[in-house]
Amino acid sequence: MQKLNVSDKVWQRLLDVRSEKACACCGDFSESEQEALNLYSPIARRDNQQLIIGQIGQSLDGRVATVSGDSGEVSGPDGIVHLHRIRALVDGVIIGVKTALHDSPRLTVRHCEGPNPARIVIDPNGRLPNDSPVLADDGTRRFVIQAVETTRPGGVEVIRLEAHDGQFSPNEIVEALRSKGMGNLLVEGGSYTIAKFIESELLGRIHISIAPLLIGKGPSGLTMSNHPQKLINAIRPDTVSYSLGSDVVFDCGLLPEAIDASKPLHG
Ligand SMILES: NC(=O)c1ccc[n+]([C@@H]2O[C@H](COP(=O)([O-])OP(=O)(O)OC[C@H]3O[C@@H](n4cnc5c(N)ncnc54)[C@H](OP(=O)(O)O)[C@@H]3O)[C@@H](O)[C@H]2O)c1
Repeated sequence: MQKLNVSDKVWQRLLDVRSEKACACCGDFSESEQEALNLYSPIARRDNQQLIIGQIGQSLDGRVATVSGDSGEVSGPDGIVHLHRIRALVDGVIIGVKTALHDSPRLTVRHCEGPNPARIVIDPNGRLPNDSPVLADDGTRRFVIQAVETTRPGGVEVIRLEAHDGQFSPNEIVEALRSKGMGNLLVEGGSYTIAKFIESELLGRIHISIAPLLIGKGPSGLTMSNHPQKLINAIRPDTVSYSLGSDVVFDCGLLPEAIDASKPLHG
């Protein structure tokens, strides 16, 4: 397992890579700083094919909440910082409406330095209340992707897509967001929303961040409708594991172009 040192120098370099002021491949860094660059630079880079990454924070037994829906502190402190680093390096964060309703997340960057990403909610039926924190006007772009005509507060950008059997095509979602200038994207959850992006072969990478607790029962980090009967057919990502401190993250490359884009730094 790789040990990380996200020193101030590394983080500043990553922010410079994100804003295309620096490359990620040269410089004088210690081994653990280099590992931090390996983990985060595929997200920060803008010179590759645009990346869509997923992130799940889960327990040792693969759960994201208790049966009663308590989901606040599954990730440990370093897992939370990790999530905020990813937010700071992408252009936009996508969540499904159930996460927006259940968790009322702000999706801002608070545990590291860096810009807030645009906030994007997939809400086909217009269930998200207009006073939700995710739609609060703080100068960040906000999008709602919906099939209905629900009016949204001024400044919120509405993307109207046609749903088929209640479903949007993730490809159409990405196309619409790209046309609005959204490049690298984080699909932050929940499980349903991430699964749709994996099943559409749009997710280049997924970070599965595991915290050392056992919940016993409750919703899983990821459940896919398209799952194999035999293990030989299971998805086996190109994976590197990193110790974050309180949590361990598995950085999984799912698509060949995303795997290739991270290779030069992994050596
Ligand atoms: N630990 C973590 O990393 C993490 C992160 C985020 C969330 N969570 C937890 O995850 C739970 C919620 O996750 P979830 O899987 O139940 O729901 P979700 O993914 O948050 O939201 C699913 C809903 O979003 C809409 N949606 C998403 N993709 C769509 C598509 N392609 N086409 C049409 N509609 C789409 C649908 O809305 P309609 O229902 O209106 O059709 C769908 O039912 C919460 O308990 C939250 O705490 C955990």
